Amino acid sequence: MSDRNPDDKTAPAPTATGLRQGLTSYGDRDFSLFLRKAFIKGAGYTDAALDRPVVGIAATGSAYNPCHGNMPQLVEAVSRGVMLAGGLPMVFPTMTLHESFAAPTSMYLRNLMAMETEELLRAQPMDAVVLIGGCDKTVPAQLMAAASAGLPAVQLITGSMLTGSHRHQRVGACTDCRRYWARFRAQEIDEAEVSAVNNQLVASVGTCSVMGTASTMACIAEALGMTVPGGASPPAVTADRMRVAELSGEQAVRIARSRLTIDQVLTAKAFENAMRVLLAIGGSTNGIVHLTAMAARMGFEMDLDALDRMGQGTPVLLDLKPSGQHYMEDFHAAGGMATLLRELKPLLHLDAITVNGCTLGEQIDAAGPGFEQDVVRPRSNPIYAQGGLAVLRGNLAPGGAIVKASAATAALMEHEGRAVVFEDAADLAARIDDPSLDVNADDILVLKRIGPKGAPGMPEAGALPIPLKLARAGVKDMVRISDGRMSGTAFGTVVLHVTPEAAEGGPLAWVRSGDRIVLSVARRELTLQVSEAEMAARRAAQPLQPPAAERGYRKLFLQHVTQADRGVDFDFLQPASNGRRIPSA
Ligand code: FES
Repeated sequence: MSDRNPDDKTAPAPTATGLRQGLTSYGDRDFSLFLRKAFIKGAGYTDAALDRPVVGIAATGSAYNPCHGNMPQLVEAVSRGVMLAGGLPMVFPTMTLHESFAAPTSMYLRNLMAMETEELLRAQPMDAVVLIGGCDKTVPAQLMAAASAGLPAVQLITGSMLTGSHRHQRVGACTDCRRYWARFRAQEIDEAEVSAVNNQLVASVGTCSVMGTASTMACIAEALGMTVPGGASPPAVTADRMRVAELSGEQAVRIARSRLTIDQVLTAKAFENAMRVLLAIGGSTNGIVHLTAMAARMGFEMDLDALDRMGQGTPVLLDLKPSGQHYMEDFHAAGGMATLLRELKPLLHLDAITVNGCTLGEQIDAAGPGFEQDVVRPRSNPIYAQGGLAVLRGNLAPGGAIVKASAATAALMEHEGRAVVFEDAADLAARIDDPSLDVNADDILVLKRIGPKGAPGMPEAGALPIPLKLARAGVKDMVRISDGRMSGTAFGTVVLHVTPEAAEGGPLAWVRSGDRIVLSVARRELTLQVSEAEMAARRAAQPLQPPAAERGYRKLFLQHVTQADRGVDFDFLQPASNGRRIPSA
């Protein structure tokens, strides 16, 4: 029964695998295993089944998460793959998060999902795990969890939704959600039409169909080497997605046997490849926060200025909304990540190991030659030459801020304007559409206290709505600045992640309406034209009142959440730095 010295009744077996690992301690390992097997046999398992390598399957289906609405089919396909490869699939539920069903914001709960998933990976016996995620925060939460738990892991993406059609116009969540809602606010379309398009924006289960955060994280997961080849792009309801699921199960058994642990995959080179891909796809700004958090779990520190330099050498190649024209299903038809990685080959670390047991370079070569398509541009003809994401510095953002230049208005990227300040999200909601609001099209909208601690949870409220009276006058974009995030499906000249945040005592807290602000993307500058002496006087007159909570998760969150430049993770979940800053460029 036991694979250890029978004289030692208490010590854990150093090489315990399968059901023999992680036994409850009663002071007698053999009895613990005897008891565990008795219970699991209650579900009808044989000894032969229980002797196989165990592959956990983290299932994240929920009626509240239509982005994961194909979970039953995915779980079945992964289980089939595990069985085909000689393993034992063990499906277990974990927390799930959907962007529209997680108040106050899904980001507030990402770390809770990561903690729960990590502890279940540690607590339950498994030799490898297939993590099934898709909606924005689920993939980063799962990868953060797996990085900390340290076992062999394969990421399976749920896949994107199909696009719909409104009056013969192709539409998809959620770039088009914002576009139609902005047109409704501007009175360009009526209530009947905005109601009709609501039926078409999400045409099937699956994740948002543009290069939002979910698609960004899917591409990042494949670039990190954490999915099977081609794992990022198949839509949720396709046969290709189910084949990827089956292959993920098979591969999990292989890496369980070879003990290809996650630290061999999530290396500095892998993270640099992922950053390169984030830049080349015109990915969501949220991808930076999640990559920072994932890298920190492996001991790496994100160097935002080096990331900016990397961006200046990386063209945006993927012609997907919101930076371009196409949708995720078009990217899949164009060959998916193999097509993109082939084009990026000279810029990648080709010797990075993937969960497939080969290098990324070998994986790209195995995908074969490219073919004619119009979704992934050649490097000689990018949709945005360089710097799709820019890192800004200045007295308003000493710890940095981000702007997605590829989704911004070119004419606003060099802009000086008068600040129109909203103290928090409630103030914004109360006044943004007030006809008496003193605001002009060349003003700069500033929103405070939507950072990691401010809201709390750093909601995606950074793309402030254009004030109603300006929207109705035809204004489509304005410079907007906040310490929050924005959805990857959004667009506009939106400065995000201002660090330190207002609730942490960053200079943003003391900006007043009427102050002048200078944004220069070319100089990477964000400057508040207010003297240090005046700022000191404002700080003295209005001392900081940090948010606090009496109990529970909110108390834990407010005490331990880090700023955007450290990934908005909890400080106690991040190991000491290994001294490596990435990217090294
Ligand atoms: Fe789930 Fe967009 S809401 S991916």
